[in-house]
Amino acid sequence: MRIVLLGAPGSGKGTQAALMVERLGMPHISTGVLLRNAADRGAELGLKAKSIIDKGELVPDEIMTDMIEERLSRPDVANGFILDGYPRNLAQAKSLDVMLKRLGQPADIAIQLDVDADQIVKRLAGRAELEGRADDNQDVVRNRMRVYHEKTARVIDYYANRGLLTHVLGDGKIAEVLERILSALSVDHSIP
Ligand code: AP5
Ligand code: MG
Repeated sequence: MRIVLLGAPGSGKGTQAALMVERLGMPHISTGVLLRNAADRGAELGLKAKSIIDKGELVPDEIMTDMIEERLSRPDVANGFILDGYPRNLAQAKSLDVMLKRLGQPADIAIQLDVDADQIVKRLAGRAELEGRADDNQDVVRNRMRVYHEKTARVIDYYANRGLLTHVLGDGKIAEVLERILSALSVDHSIP
């Protein structure tokens, strides 16, 4: 199964994807993780991206498309994948469609994790204290939310128009959200 996980910053994409990997046994591909790893390695691209990530802006589409194309070309995606953090705007959604078509592996479902803004602010403030992720400070979180509403939210309609979108409530306990996702995955999402 080829799954696109959508949702605001802090909605639980990474948390749920890690649990889905255990249950479904396919790779979790997070562009945020790929970018942070590249920065930690000191790779030129990663360091360039870090200054953008730390402001809460989007890294340019060309960089992201190359990065995801390289990742999707690896053999472990043959049995499906969970994409988290990509696509993040309409141009990326269109590029992804082209890439997956070429690979003969179109997306099967897009899951939108719905979480209240208050809850998100709380979660990210908690993570800022625990993990110190540079983009979890209050000002940057505000900007990430703005960018999400201005650019990423359109991707929800993009998948809805293709009959691939399912909303899942992302509030509540982590295990409960996982159960909701797993039951959504057993639903037939083909366009009637
Ligand atoms: P990215 O790493 O993708 O960050 P994000 O989308 O802002 O989302 P987060 O990772 O913060 O949240 P999440 O939804 O994964 O939630 P999580 O499970 O961690 O991107 C970072 C940056 O990279 C972007 O801002 C951009 O600059 C750049 N970038 C990445 N992809 C890009 C692209 N395609 N194009 C351009 N730029 C790109 O949970 C959050 C917290 O809540 C955790 O502490 C968790 O423990 C907690 N939590 C989770 N679930 C629950 C629950 N049910 N109850 C209570 N707490 C919970
Ligand atoms: Mg994440």
